[in-house]
Amino acid sequence: MAQSFPRPRGTRDLLPDDLVLIRHLERTARRVAETGGCVEVRPPLFEDTRLFARSLGDATDVVEKEMFTVPRRSESEQSGSEDSGGYTFRPEGTAGAARAYLEAGFPQRGPLQKWYYLGPMFRYERPQKGRERQFTQFGVEIFGAAGPLADAEVVEIALRFFEALGFGAELEVRVNSMGDPADRDRWRESLRGYFEPQLAERCSDCRDRFARNVFRLLDCKVERCRELSAGAPDLFAVMGEDARVHHEGFLDAMCALGRTVREDRGIVRGLDYYTRTVFEIHYPPLGARSALCGGGRYDGLVAELGGPATPAVGFAIGFTPTEIALAALELPSESELADLRGALAPEVWCVAVTEEERLPVLRLAQALRKAGRRAALDLRGKSVGAQMKEAGKSGAAWLAVLGPDERTSGALTLRSLAGEVEIPAALSADLDAALRAALKDPGSR
Ligand code: HAM
Repeated sequence: MAQSFPRPRGTRDLLPDDLVLIRHLERTARRVAETGGCVEVRPPLFEDTRLFARSLGDATDVVEKEMFTVPRRSESEQSGSEDSGGYTFRPEGTAGAARAYLEAGFPQRGPLQKWYYLGPMFRYERPQKGRERQFTQFGVEIFGAAGPLADAEVVEIALRFFEALGFGAELEVRVNSMGDPADRDRWRESLRGYFEPQLAERCSDCRDRFARNVFRLLDCKVERCRELSAGAPDLFAVMGEDARVHHEGFLDAMCALGRTVREDRGIVRGLDYYTRTVFEIHYPPLGARSALCGGGRYDGLVAELGGPATPAVGFAIGFTPTEIALAALELPSESELADLRGALAPEVWCVAVTEEERLPVLRLAQALRKAGRRAALDLRGKSVGAQMKEAGKSGAAWLAVLGPDERTSGALTLRSLAGEVEIPAALSADLDAALRAALKDPGSR
């Protein structure tokens, strides 16, 4: 059939089968964040466009090319003195979290906050493997902790998420430091001096980025550009004592946690708000787009938004690349997947033998559901044979067959491969209580 209204490019319909895995990722994210002492926040999905321009940086790819922006409509909304540029669907979660932190007054009433979020982000990128225009991120942001233990804490939470999903030594944690702002100013100048004579030889992206954001030349993926970057000046050569000590402290903490990290001076991140620690977690077989997670410290952001100086550090994990890496590793295992599917399948299928049992079955399913059981029944007037077949296909553990005999005796038997549960007086007026008593054991499937 011709599709008149295809789904927008770079988006996915997450259908029940897809959600078996996605819900598993979501549950794992929540569990890992909450055992790590984080609480959930849900800022809006769109913000004032200026928030992103100010936080992520005017000259970043995300702000320049990838924003989903809508203009404001009403006169009153446009009445601000500056041109607001409208609203933008969030391309990431850090800016909104920092804005919410400030707006709710946390700098005064509880500066230390450990937050997590889970939800859709929007970037108008060229869709390709692992890159979508709407994608899900699981992120953690810790506000109010200046020391390197907080940096180690967020990397540890990210790694625990991957570990809980079954990842092992395949993942690589690449770390670097962006230093303090004064360090970066010195470094920017020496990078400009180094790259300028190379510009004719470098790719057009590099030439374009040279003036706007010279650091990005360091993470250009083009082979020739990478070769040319090999001798670029090192930030560590000009880094001040404070940032250096912080970095050492971070490495020591990772070591104490038994985590192996790799120093990678090419990790400069694509967003402007970072200071000191930056890191990415990669699944190298994915090639140029192998980052499953990115993050770092952004001690200047809350102040940039008008608040007091507030240290902060966080990460975001993309579900899409994580799903691709999981598939490559054949994770979750078949048996885990069967368990995840089983947890969504009905527990009890209620079968009506004749037309006379249609309404008693409807009532039985209602009582089972009240007792907290996932109950299913036929809604299409199918024959008893067809109902049994459907029950078998559904993966339901128990079958409740209601026929004339049961109607006469009033008793009901739930059957499964594992055995039977007799429910006497099941069809009496007190069906709810009878079921609750009979199904005390919640682990019956
Ligand atoms: P980011 O590196 O832009 O950082 O994104 C983090 C992760 O989101 C990436 O490593 C990738 O897995 C995923 N991701 C990004 N863009 C896409 C896309 N178009 N399609 C699918 N997945 C994508 C941030 O967003 C920062 N806010 C991280 C952070 C939090 N830094 C401090 N706190």
